[in-house]
Amino acid sequence: MTRITRSVEEAVEVLRQGDPVAIPTETVYGLAANAFDERAIAKVFAAKERPSFDPLIVHLAIDSDAWQDGSLTDLSRFTALARQRLEALAQAFWPGPLTIVLPKTARVPDLVTSGLPRVALRKPAHPVAQRVLALTGFPLAAPSANRFGRISPTESSHVMAELEGRIPLILDGGPCSVGVESTVIAIAEDGRISILRPGGLAPEKITDLLGCKLEPAAQAKDLSASPGTLESHYAPTKPLLLLDSESAAKPDLRSKRAGLLTLAPASREWIASWGPNAPTAWTFHPLSSNGDPHEAARELFRGLRELDASDCDVMVSVLPTTPWTGLIHAIADRLQRASKRY
Ligand code: TXA
Ligand code: MG
Repeated sequence: MTRITRSVEEAVEVLRQGDPVAIPTETVYGLAANAFDERAIAKVFAAKERPSFDPLIVHLAIDSDAWQDGSLTDLSRFTALARQRLEALAQAFWPGPLTIVLPKTARVPDLVTSGLPRVALRKPAHPVAQRVLALTGFPLAAPSANRFGRISPTESSHVMAELEGRIPLILDGGPCSVGVESTVIAIAEDGRISILRPGGLAPEKITDLLGCKLEPAAQAKDLSASPGTLESHYAPTKPLLLLDSESAAKPDLRSKRAGLLTLAPASREWIASWGPNAPTAWTFHPLSSNGDPHEAARELFRGLRELDASDCDVMVSVLPTTPWTGLIHAIADRLQRASKRY
């Protein structure tokens, strides 16, 4: 049986016993376990049905030095530039929605990193996550608290819908304020930064701070891409039809009921432009009243979940107009992955 609690102490007790607990973070809910306890980590993979090739992010307490004191990461081959960039990023964006992939020490179990020589680290900003980390005293390995390949949870009820009966406890900390997962970057030994997953920290914030470009993961020669960034991910059970732009040709939805998930309310002109291809009924689900990317990111997974549970036959969304800035990268990325099944 899976229970929901608001008691941090209760969650800490279960974590200490070696069982996983779903915890709130500012991005999405995570399914947390002691990062040093391989049996607890194995339970996380099992509950999510996550393949063992997809590594977990290790979450650290706000005052932890484990990212640089030699306990979890081995920075011995880092150049001065690499160290300087790492320190600047940690200083500017932790706690927050940034995950940094660094060379690991033997102390980090291979199960956590799927055998990779690098570990992904993040300091979450959610005060409840930080209270849990402060009380347990160990780092928490935590993937998003959904079954593998499904929509990430941004409320405790979403976790229940995903993992009921598979985990003992969900710690409720309210809805997540960012709504999309952290931005994942890797720092190479020579200081080059590559972006492995767009997320809750806008990429411009990183480039503005460091004054350097971000390499796409595929071009980072000595780094494998994030194994978890599979093309098909965040999959709703209903097909999601993603249009490239508002002016894209309208597919034939004549006999269908459609749920429309857009960043801002759709205009009357655009709805009219479907002409004879229009569905029999529309359910409108704007993610923000004015297209605000922060609000849209916060609502994205809830919106997908709600439309998926509604009586529509097909979900429809439209990619934002380029150039993309801020959280639009992350929103577009999640929509693209969710739409692969159409
Ligand atoms: O915001 C977040 O990042 C949330 C919260 C709970 O912190 N966590 C999250 O975890 O989204 P997950 O497991 O759903 O996604 C982690 C991503 C995956 O794409 C995974 O492949 C990548 O991070 N990753 C983890 N460890 C890695 C490593 N050692 N090297 C490369 N990529 C790694
Ligand atoms: Mg995930």
